[in-house]
Amino acid sequence: MNANPNAGELAGRRIVLGLSGGAACFKAAELCRGMVKAGALVQVVMTEAACQFITPVAMQALSGQPVYTSQWDARPDNNMAHINLTRAADAVLVAPASADFIAQLAQGRAGELLALLCLARPIERVPLLLAPSMNREMWAHPATQRNVAQVQRDGAQMLGVAWGEQACGETGDGRMLEADELLQELIAALAPKALAGQQVLITAGPTFEAIDPVRGITNRSSGKMGFAIARAAREAGAQVTLVAGPVALPTPRGVRRVDVVSARDMHLAAMEHAQDANIFIATAAVADWRPATQAEQKIKKDGSGVVPQMDFVENPDILAEVAHSARAQAGDLFCVGFAAESENLLANAQAKRARKGVPLLVGNIGPATFGQDDNALLLVDDEGAIELPRASKRVLAQQLVAEIARRVSGWSA
Ligand code: C5P
Repeated sequence: MNANPNAGELAGRRIVLGLSGGAACFKAAELCRGMVKAGALVQVVMTEAACQFITPVAMQALSGQPVYTSQWDARPDNNMAHINLTRAADAVLVAPASADFIAQLAQGRAGELLALLCLARPIERVPLLLAPSMNREMWAHPATQRNVAQVQRDGAQMLGVAWGEQACGETGDGRMLEADELLQELIAALAPKALAGQQVLITAGPTFEAIDPVRGITNRSSGKMGFAIARAAREAGAQVTLVAGPVALPTPRGVRRVDVVSARDMHLAAMEHAQDANIFIATAAVADWRPATQAEQKIKKDGSGVVPQMDFVENPDILAEVAHSARAQAGDLFCVGFAAESENLLANAQAKRARKGVPLLVGNIGPATFGQDDNALLLVDDEGAIELPRASKRVLAQQLVAEIARRVSGWSA
C-alpha cells in the first residue's frame, strides 16, 4: 500500500498558494503540506487579513520557502514580486478566497500583492483557481454571486463551495473544500485536456446476483481500475458517468456515479447513459450467469444433507450490445472492452475483441491484478498490440486515456 497516494502527482510543478482572510486558513496549512508531499514547489503569498488567522512563519515552515506578504518586499532584485512569482508559476491557487478578495478580483484591483499578482499573471498560461470560504449569507449575497460570475467570465476556476457547518455556528453553503479535495482539483486542473468535450461512460466493479435475501454470486473485481479510469478521464476534461457495481471505493471528484447491484441493473443503467456518450469503457466484471430464480426468503439448511439445486440463466452482454448499437456502428460511440485472462493474453484478447465487436480491447492477467494497486495492460486494436508495462492503476489509467484520446480525436501528448 502506497503511504502517500499523491506522491509525484505535482512533481516539478510551481504553484503560488495564496491565502486571503478567513477561518479556513488552517486548511490551507494542510493543503500546503499535501502539495509539497505531492512534489510541488509551493510559494505562499498571504494578504494582511490572512496573517490574522495564521502566521507566515507556519506557512514558511510547511512550504519550505519564505512567504510573501507585501508588494513592497525588497527581497527581489527588481522589487517586482508580482511579476517574478507569476512568470515562473504553473498555477495560482487562492485558498481561502474571501468575499472581499473575490470582489477585488472582479474589479481588477491590485492594492495588495496577492490581488496584484492575480492581475499580473499571464492569463493564457497560468490558471487561477479560487477556493471560496465565507459565511452562507455572504456567499448567497447578490454582490458575491455577481462577483463570482464575473471572475469566472474572466477565466478563474471556482473550486467549491461545500455545504456544512461553518465556523460562525451557522450551517449552509460557503465552506471551503477540504485540503485533499483541493489537492485533487489542482492535480485535475493541471492535467492535459485530451478528452475535452467528450462524454465518457464507464462500467466498473463486480455485479452481485442474488440467490436469496442473504446470499448471492459475485466475483473478485475491486473496481479500482475502472475508478482510476473515471478519474483520469474527468481530469482529461471529459464529462464522466461511472456505473458501479457493489464496491467500497470513494467516487472520484467531478464524476457522476450510478450505483447498481446486479448485471441487469448495470445493463439498464449503461443502455440509458450510452445514449449521450461518445466513449464507452467496459471495465466491469459482469457475472455471466444469474440464478434463474431468486428465493424470497433465506433458503434453510434442514439437516437432511440434501443440497439445493440451482438453474442459471445468462446475463445480457452489456459491452456487446452497446458495441452493436446504431450509434457505435455509425462511429459516434467508441467502445473499449476489457478482458481478464489467466493465460495466452494476446490470442484471447484478439479473439474477444472480434467477438465483442469493439475497436479497442484491453487485456490483463486477472489473478495478478484483482484487488491490487498495480497492473500491466495489453492494448489490442486493428493496428496490432501495444503493451503498457506494469505500473500503478493510476498511471495505467492516464496512459489508457491518452491512447483512447489518440484514437477518438487524434489527440497526441
Ligand atoms: O465475455 P467477458 O466477460 O470475458 O468480456 C469482458 C468484457 O465484456 C469486459 O469489458 C466486460 O466489462 C464486458 N462484459 C459486459 N457484460 C457482460 C459480460 C462482460 O459488458 N455480461
